[in-house]
Amino acid sequence: MKHQPTISQIENAFQPAKEIDVPNRFAGRHQSVIDCYYALATQGANLAIVGNRGIGKSSLARQVIRMATGDNTLIEKSLDHRVFERHDFLAMYFACGDAVRTSDDLLESLGAERRTESGAQKAIAQHSIDTVFTNVVRELANQGLAKHGILIVVDEFDRIGDPAGFASFLKSLATNVPAVKFCLVGVAQDIKELMKEHESTDRLFAGSIVRLAAMTDDELAEIVRTAEAAIDSYLTFDHGATKRLVSDAKLFANRSALFANDAESAMIACSLL
Ligand SMILES: Nc1ncnc2c1ncn2[C@@H]1O[C@H](COP(=O)(O)OP(=O)(O)OP(=O)(O)O)[C@@H](O)[C@H]1O
Ligand SMILES: [Mg+2]
Repeated sequence: MKHQPTISQIENAFQPAKEIDVPNRFAGRHQSVIDCYYALATQGANLAIVGNRGIGKSSLARQVIRMATGDNTLIEKSLDHRVFERHDFLAMYFACGDAVRTSDDLLESLGAERRTESGAQKAIAQHSIDTVFTNVVRELANQGLAKHGILIVVDEFDRIGDPAGFASFLKSLATNVPAVKFCLVGVAQDIKELMKEHESTDRLFAGSIVRLAAMTDDELAEIVRTAEAAIDSYLTFDHGATKRLVSDAKLFANRSALFANDAESAMIACSLL
């Protein structure tokens, strides 16, 4: 006989308020997972995950960290065969908040302390936060804690109002400390929009830009199957109910997108008044 699930199991069978961390709850996105796995293997290339709001960027970023630290569960599911080579990165995750307004703020949040020299030294010190950061990660990389280097995932990168200089910082970092890889994640259609750069930044990412589209019906149905599995199929959705749920979810997502657009237009209109 099937065990009756607890209230908390039922409440968390679907997980709309929190990104998916555990690989066996991560549905679909096979090609994106494969692209991320290969991007981690590509020397000198950073990785970017872009797409609309709420599309699943942070969930994929969590899986990137899992793969980077040797968990091959999801890549094996996506390729449908065993993968014996494991990535071995020292990985960290950081989500930008309101306090991160510039490229320097970001580097400071990631561990580079701003120097507080006064007088003549001050002008030099103000420009040196990227140097401090470079030295810190070089030191870390030299400790050889992980075979393939250091991976830094920066989520909500689009919230940085003025990321000017970050692209050129990445360029010099690639030369100075090639063992460091960034994975930038945020709401944008492409990397230029994410980095707010006019110059081409494609080379820094060497094709490793993963643009997430809306999930297909099959992928959405897989989320329903995963939720059923989370409660040992004590409750199940039949074919018709699954179809209905999938189509309602899509309708709701479209309405939210429309609402988001409306809200954005309203704000732009207000700011023009
Ligand atoms: N591959 C997936 N499998 C199952 N559920 C998913 C998947 N991707 C996203 N979800 C669901 O969608 C929700 C939103 O995903 P997520 O937080 O990753 O999106 P996001 O693009 O980072 O959103 P935001 O733009 O708000 O940062 C998650 O809480 C999760 O329930
Ligand atoms: Mg997110």
